[in-house]
Amino acid sequence: MTRVINFGAGPAMLPRDVLTQVAAEMLDWQGSGMSVMEMGHRSAAYGRILTAAESDLRELLAIPANYHVLFLQGGATLQFAMVPLNLMRGGSGGDYVVTGDWSARAAREAARVGTVRIAATTGEGALGHIPAQNRWQLDPAADYVHLCANETIAGVEFNWVPQTGTVPLVADMSSNFLSRAIDIERYGLIYAGAQKNVGPAGLTIVIVRDDLVGYLRSSAPSLFDYAAQAAAHSMVNTPPTFAIYIAGLVFKWLKGQGGVKAIEARNVEKAALAYAAIDSAAGFYVSAVAPSDRSRMNVTFTIARPGLDAAFLAGARERAMVQLAGHRSVGGMRASLYNAMPVDDVAKLASYLGEFARSNG
Ligand SMILES: Cc1ncc(COP(=O)(O)O)c(C=O)c1O
Repeated sequence: MTRVINFGAGPAMLPRDVLTQVAAEMLDWQGSGMSVMEMGHRSAAYGRILTAAESDLRELLAIPANYHVLFLQGGATLQFAMVPLNLMRGGSGGDYVVTGDWSARAAREAARVGTVRIAATTGEGALGHIPAQNRWQLDPAADYVHLCANETIAGVEFNWVPQTGTVPLVADMSSNFLSRAIDIERYGLIYAGAQKNVGPAGLTIVIVRDDLVGYLRSSAPSLFDYAAQAAAHSMVNTPPTFAIYIAGLVFKWLKGQGGVKAIEARNVEKAALAYAAIDSAAGFYVSAVAPSDRSRMNVTFTIARPGLDAAFLAGARERAMVQLAGHRSVGGMRASLYNAMPVDDVAKLASYLGEFARSNG
């Protein structure tokens, strides 16, 4: 069996130890005589899996007791709508900070539900960056402020948390969830699709402060109600049982790695390796992101000379490095370095970047 080095942006690589355990438990989960996939979601055995997943996640992020942890479906895209449907409750609407494609999509979806103001934007064609907060136009009467903590396509990441006063801050952390230490209390709501740093596609995690739930717009489907999901421990209907089980194993793996602070240190090291390789061949490789706002998770770059992309990807493939092509909407290259990516594999990428630049520069 040959495992490749998978730089895909999501669904993305998972820790090898987790996959090995899933394989070992596939036919008989801990003497139950069945796969987790075959277990009733309200069985005692599955209850233990769900409870452990939630408590491990709470421990990893030090989630205070007044925050609910929800295991939902519909992807981060459904949260683009669920956030306004639950949180727009008589204020002046949502303030959106647009720093790339995902936050733009979130704003467009929310505009279908209610009033959306673009509080700040990177601007078309500008170098990817996070606008400084003194350039944001925030409305103190807003229902919430929304941002995307890490723009997966552009490779632009917040490494600071804005001050929004009493207005709840909502963050899409789909592509940097659990990759760095965060102070949950700075946020009213965090959401993340699982398929990058947490587990398989099909699971979306929502962490929401308890005073923000209970206000679903009356015309909205009841399944979209954070309060109902919280009261039912994410079991208003059948939850994505197998995806939650795998996420739970990833949480245990992360604890075994030393927790979020330890993984963050490794992520800093990995990003530094990749960006150093790009910068040391500056001119050959082009990074379109302001250095202070470069994503640790999604390293984006282009090859300046036209016509070399296919050769770059083919050479990478020969070295077992796959899924390095950029998002279909922007082209170029993107190396996603999520938690499961070992430092050694990023070092291999860095050395290939240098080699390719030397032989084609
Ligand atoms: C930052 C971010 N937000 C939202 C999404 C959409 O997620 P989903 O496909 O789970 O709806 C993605 C997908 O890659 C993403 O990277």
